[in-house]
Amino acid sequence: MAKEPSFVICAVTGASGGPIALRLIAELSRRPLELHLVFSPTGASVFTRETGVKPSLDSLRQALGEPPGDSIKATLVMHPPDDFDAPIASGSVKWDGMVICPCSMGTAGRIAAGVNDNLITRAADVTIKERRRLVLVPREAPLSALHLENLLKLSRLGAVILPPVLTFYHQPATIEEQMDFIVGRVLDALGLDTDLVKPWSGA
Ligand SMILES: Cc1cc2nc3c(=O)[nH]c(=O)nc-3n(C[C@H](O)[C@H](O)[C@H](O)COP(=O)(O)O)c2cc1C
Repeated sequence: MAKEPSFVICAVTGASGGPIALRLIAELSRRPLELHLVFSPTGASVFTRETGVKPSLDSLRQALGEPPGDSIKATLVMHPPDDFDAPIASGSVKWDGMVICPCSMGTAGRIAAGVNDNLITRAADVTIKERRRLVLVPREAPLSALHLENLLKLSRLGAVILPPVLTFYHQPATIEEQMDFIVGRVLDALGLDTDLVKPWSGA
């Protein structure tokens, strides 16, 4: 059986989806992980526009409810997106998986083309070359043939392409339940245990 991940990278890029990213960071933070966070510049501004939370450790800790409480079990580390000296720029550092949520078409395209122009695309490139788990939550509508080709290329390289699509068979009553379903599937794809998604037991 694959070991439970203990070191995860979570990157936020400039697609819409800030509330999903915040919910995902909250769930990851509740686990005893080494959790490295990177926001692209546009990712930071779209995230703040959509959640009201600044992309700093202090603001995130406050938004996640600390202090008071002990809800955060992860060791949180934040890297500037242009810091190529960060440990997560090197495959010698053994993270288990990386998620990009949300993933813009710009970031997906640059990863697909092997363009390591910031710490997010570099860490994704390393994740692919080291054959570790890479989960992308791409958001754009409609998707062009170029977007689809880039995502197909990344899927063929082993990335899990997990768009934040609406789902109804679990009868969600709120948008939070819709988001929990997506976040649960992301945690699953990273190999982390979660009860956010209940296995379908038939009609
Ligand atoms: C409010 C806002 C919403 C955006 N939503 C999307 C989106 O859903 N998907 C997308 O691919 N790009 C979206 N963009 C455009 C990206 O932010 C832009 O292409 C940017 O260059 C991506 O850079 P990054 O991938 O380095 O974060 C949006 C931009 C803004 C300002």
